[in-house]
Parts: sequence; C-alpha cells; structure tokens
Amino acid sequence: LATADFDLSEVEFGETITVKWRGKPIFIRRRKPEEIDEVRAVPMSHLRDQEADEDRVTNPEWIIVLAICPHLGCVPVSNAGEYNGWFCPCHGSHYDISGRIRKGPAPLNLEVPPYKFMDEKNLLIG
Ligand code: FES
Repeated sequence: LATADFDLSEVEFGETITVKWRGKPIFIRRRKPEEIDEVRAVPMSHLRDQEADEDRVTNPEWIIVLAICPHLGCVPVSNAGEYNGWFCPCHGSHYDISGRIRKGPAPLNLEVPPYKFMDEKNLLIG
C-alpha cells in the first residue's frame, strides 16, 4: 500500500514515536508550544539547509520526518543531540526539533514525507 494511516491520540507532548511507511522508518514527534517557538526563532542564516519550520509542517504540533540520516543513511536517535531533536551517532549529525541539520556532516535536513491529517489526531502518510 502506498499510504498508511496512524492514530496519534496516545502520543504525549514531547514524545517521538517511530512508525513504518513503505518499509522505511518515520519519526513523528508531538512538539510542545515552547519547542515550536524555539525552532521558529532560529534565523535562516544559522541553517545549512535553509528551510523555515513553517514549510516543514502542516500542523505545528507535529513534525514528521524520515528516520534516515541524509549523510550516509543511519537511523538517528530521537530527543537527543545538542538541539534536542535528533542525533545521528554514526558520524555525529545534530538535528533540531524541526529535523533540520544544525551540526555535523549531514548536508541536508531530515526529509519530510508526503502526508496529511485526516482530522486532529489521524495522520495519513503517503
Ligand atoms: Fe548520520 Fe553519517 S550517517 S552522520
């Protein structure tokens, strides 16, 4: 199946879950209001791969990214690293709570898969 749906009603603020879509792991993090404020306050000039958080999410409470480091493909660790987003232990890439590369060798942000919310807590990926 090209699409998969997920019920997010059990996910707490600050929690990241991992799901599978087309055989790939996907991270879904429910962001706290202060985490949204933090990533939205980052100046573009601080970003290697310059993408506004607003362009990476449809509902600011949820960041949804492929769990594949764009450096060489390892699976990053959630809620870790210097920016408390993701940390890739293979070669030390640090991502923020928008999944954007902030430090380390990865050239690009964690990729956002195609998705939409069917309602507040029901997500369709694909
Ligand atoms: Fe993630 Fe190299 S594969 S930092």
